Amino acid sequence: MASEQVRITDVGPRDGLQSQKTLVPVAGKLALIEALWGAGMPAIEATSFVSPQAVPQMADADALLPAIAVPAGRSLSALVPNQRGLERALRAGCREIAVVLSATETMNQRNIRMGLDEAIATARDTLRDAQAQGLATRAYIAVAFACPFEGNTPTDRVHALSVAMAEAGAGEIVVADTIGAAAPCDVQRVVQALLASLPAQTLGLHLHDTRGMALANAWQGLQMGVRRFDASIGGLGGCPFAPGAAGNLATEDLALLCAQAGLDTQLDMEALVRAIDVAETLVGYPVGGRSLRWIRQNLPALARPSAAQAGAASTPR
Ligand code: COA
Ligand code: ZN
Repeated sequence: MASEQVRITDVGPRDGLQSQKTLVPVAGKLALIEALWGAGMPAIEATSFVSPQAVPQMADADALLPAIAVPAGRSLSALVPNQRGLERALRAGCREIAVVLSATETMNQRNIRMGLDEAIATARDTLRDAQAQGLATRAYIAVAFACPFEGNTPTDRVHALSVAMAEAGAGEIVVADTIGAAAPCDVQRVVQALLASLPAQTLGLHLHDTRGMALANAWQGLQMGVRRFDASIGGLGGCPFAPGAAGNLATEDLALLCAQAGLDTQLDMEALVRAIDVAETLVGYPVGGRSLRWIRQNLPALARPSAAQAGAASTPR
C-alpha cells in the first residue's frame, strides 16, 4: 500500500540564503538547487524578485532562475512582493510564484513598505495577474502567530487574510511563523480556525526554529491533516526584516520525522546529506538540523528504501 505523501518545499535557496551577508554566486546557488533536486525534492523556492537594495543576496534572481533546469513533475517557485516582481519572474520564465502578506500593519511596513490594506490589494492584484499568465500560486501569511513589532497575532485576522488569499485564487495558503514564536498549542488553534474554512490540501506551514519548537509544530500540523510544509536544507534561514528570527525548520529533521511516521516525502536521505554539505560550503559555517549527526551515523542504512522506517536503523540490539 502506498504511504501517504507529505510535500516539502525547500526554501533554503531563498529564505535560507536571503540574510547571508556574503553574496553566494549564481553557480553556488545552482549547485545547491541541483543537489536538492538530486535528493528528490518535489518543490524548491529558488529566489525572490524583490528590491536588490532591500535584499542584496537575491539581486541575481533574473540570472539565476532561467539557469535552473526543472526535472519533470517538480515545482520551482519564486517569491514576489508586487507586480514589478511578477513581471521580472515572468521574464525569467518562472511558472510558480508566492506573494507575501504579513498579518500585521507594522510587519508589512517593515517588509514591503506598505500598510496592511495596500499589502492585501497588492497581493490580490499580483495573484490575479499571475493566474492570468497561467502561473501556479502560493500566498504567505507572514507573522501568523506573533509579530516582532506588535506581539501576538489575532487568530481571526490570520483567518480573514487566509480566506481572502484563497478567494483571490492562491493555490496554497502558507501560514508562516516568521519569527519562530509558536508552540504546538498555537499551531493547533490557528490550523483549527483555518480548517473551518479551507481544505487541508491547500494549507501549508512555514516554521522557524527560534525556540526549538519547529519540529513539534510540524508534528501538530501533521496530526491535523496538514501535508504541505516549507523547510530549509540544514536549517538555514531567517528574515532580515524580522528581528530575532532564527533558522527555518531543517528539511532533514522533517524528512526523518515523516519517515518514522510512515509518511512519504520522496526524499533520499543520503542525497539530502550531500545537499547539506553543499549548503555548508556555500555559507562557510556548520549547518544542520538537530537530527543530522544521527542521520550521518546511520547512513547508508537509512538511505535504503527498505529501511525507510528510520526506526529500523535505531533499534537497539
Ligand atoms: N524588484 C526590483 N525592484 C523593485 C521591485 C521589485 N519587485 N519593486 C520595486 N522596485 C524598485 C522600484 O522600481 C524603485 O526603483 P528606483 O528607485 O530605481 O525607481 C525602487 O524599487 C523603489 O520602489 P518602491 O515602489 O517605492 O518600493 P519600496 O522602496 O517601497 O520597496 C519593495 C518595496 C517591496 C520593492 C521592497 O520593500 C522589497 O523588495 N521588499 C522585499 C523584502 C523581502 O524580500 N523580505 C523577505 C521575504 S518575506
Ligand atoms: Zn521564513
